[in-house]
Amino acid sequence: MGIKERFDLSGQVALVTGGARGIGRACAEGLAEFGADVAVADIREGNLHRTVAELADQYDARIEGIICDVTDAAAVSDMVAKVVDLFGKIDILVNSVGISIREDAEKMTEEQWHKVMDTNLTSTFLCCQAAGRRMIQQKRGAIINVASMSARIVNIPQNQLAYNASKAGMIQMSRSMAAEWAKHNVRVNTISPGSTLTDMTKAVPQYHDQWCELIPMKRMAAPEEMAGAVVYLASDAASYATGHDLIIDGGYTLW
Ligand SMILES: NC(=O)c1ccc[n+]([C@@H]2O[C@H](COP(=O)([O-])OP(=O)(O)OC[C@H]3O[C@@H](n4cnc5c(N)ncnc54)[C@H](O)[C@@H]3O)[C@@H](O)[C@H]2O)c1
Repeated sequence: MGIKERFDLSGQVALVTGGARGIGRACAEGLAEFGADVAVADIREGNLHRTVAELADQYDARIEGIICDVTDAAAVSDMVAKVVDLFGKIDILVNSVGISIREDAEKMTEEQWHKVMDTNLTSTFLCCQAAGRRMIQQKRGAIINVASMSARIVNIPQNQLAYNASKAGMIQMSRSMAAEWAKHNVRVNTISPGSTLTDMTKAVPQYHDQWCELIPMKRMAAPEEMAGAVVYLASDAASYATGHDLIIDGGYTLW
């Protein structure tokens, strides 16, 4: 098989959580463009319906929307069952759900801490486990978890220790799953975006200039700049890549 064919995702089924907007949506689009049928899951119903309609219009792929709060274990189990019901299998899982609460370490409440950990880390565990069980049966699967450069650096000027800790946890959790599930032909990788222009970061425009000063490329990323890495890691082009963290940060972590 040639390299180009290895990138082809025709006949494959992908589930993208947090796919209604931002980086998740860009990844869903990339997967659909390369031929995968895609289930887009999100908690925001309005955005979800809009995204599903737009993607179905644009790509020659089957696109379905699933409303799901990925912090709810029963809902996650139902979501994966629904994907298998609708499409017959699940080959690719991309976990892009994430939130950040900006707060100083000495002021952060236990509730805030748990909210970030549940949404970023525990939800990723639940989704990986539910889809992973099915992938192990199928003896085939590729999981890509969207971590962050914040797993490795401490962002400035905003304080966000729970976010940073959750992202570091996602990487080591993914590496652990990669090691356990390699024998089942289930690969688990992470990507680590740097500052990317999405609703998450558009909410704090006051930081953008300072962030860009700190980025060797002197600009933030567009969400689409994350999608190529996800397509690669999802595809047979990455058939020997597992437990890897692909940093895409315009060079931020170099300095
Ligand atoms: N934007 C950045 O600069 C940046 C940088 C590094 C990493 N990331 C990571 O990339 C991922 C996507 O970020 P984004 O910037 O696209 O954010 P975003 O807020 O634009 O999108 C996140 C999506 O997740 C959904 N979501 C939130 N909680 C949910 C839940 N409990 N159940 C189901 N869906 C839920 C939201 O509705 C939204 O559609 C996150 O994990 C984030 O931490 C973002």
